[in-house]
Amino acid sequence: MKNFLNISDLSSDECLRIIKTAIDRKINKPHSNEAKNKSLAMIFEKNSTRTRISFELAIKQLGGLSIMLEKDQLHLGKRETLADTAKTLSQYADIIMMRSNSHQTLENLAKYSEVPIINGLSDLSHPCQTLATLMTIIEIKGSLDGVNISWFGPISNVAHSLIDAANNDLGFTLTIHCPKYYQDIYFQKLNDMNKKISLDKVSLTEIDEKKVALADVIYTDTWFSMGDIEDSTKIEMLTPYSINKNIMSMTKKESMFMHCLPANRSQEVSAEVIDGEQSYVWHEAQNRLHIQKELILSFL
Ligand code: CP
Ligand code: NVA
Repeated sequence: MKNFLNISDLSSDECLRIIKTAIDRKINKPHSNEAKNKSLAMIFEKNSTRTRISFELAIKQLGGLSIMLEKDQLHLGKRETLADTAKTLSQYADIIMMRSNSHQTLENLAKYSEVPIINGLSDLSHPCQTLATLMTIIEIKGSLDGVNISWFGPISNVAHSLIDAANNDLGFTLTIHCPKYYQDIYFQKLNDMNKKISLDKVSLTEIDEKKVALADVIYTDTWFSMGDIEDSTKIEMLTPYSINKNIMSMTKKESMFMHCLPANRSQEVSAEVIDGEQSYVWHEAQNRLHIQKELILSFL
């Protein structure tokens, strides 16, 4: 693995190895010096709570250090090309993590960087999030084998990485419950980006109550990603996809509610679900830290 821009950069075995080692390290060796004298540069074009803090603490708990770079603090794309910034940062840092408005920027960074690039979220994908999600499911359910995940709402960057993971045959099945309008938006976006993804291993549907009844995991994301403009017609279209007690009661008794966060309790999920007993959102957020450690160590 030279860079980690998408889940598809990892084989199925590599995905499971990272997750299993993260589970082991979380219990047995949360602090070490394995990244001593190593540094991580982090570039953010968008806000972040979890990604920023989990990466910063992950390298610190491994004995290394991080440098946080807001886009506006750099010459990036203004007085200096992305290529020159990439080459310069490569002289100082051992790994670069970037949260980018455009996936193309990440690909260009990876093209010119002499050190590995990790995607900390782009308009296309959020692979670090997916590893933390799958780690959480394994911790709770024991394995991904036979686990039915039902995604609700627009096919966001988080959903895209989940589809990528489903294509890696990790043992779970994925149903995407999404309005037709948003399915088309997703395909248009992929087309505009010149990207392809197989949906052979995924069920793509509007709300399918039979699949909901089989769900072990209900997963959703904000209806309006960073940079999107809220719109009342879209809210109305998505309202049936809001996860409330009624939807949770249609699922298996032990089903888990998951969300990448940040969440909007008046849109994609009700407070009683996200703050309720079936919610694993804090567990999932915590696992971001443990996954970041494995990613950092994989590159070092
Ligand atoms: N889930 C996630 O990436 O959260 P942040 O936007 O806070 O980093
Ligand atoms: N889809 C959301 C995920 C945030 C972690 C966004 O891009 O804003």
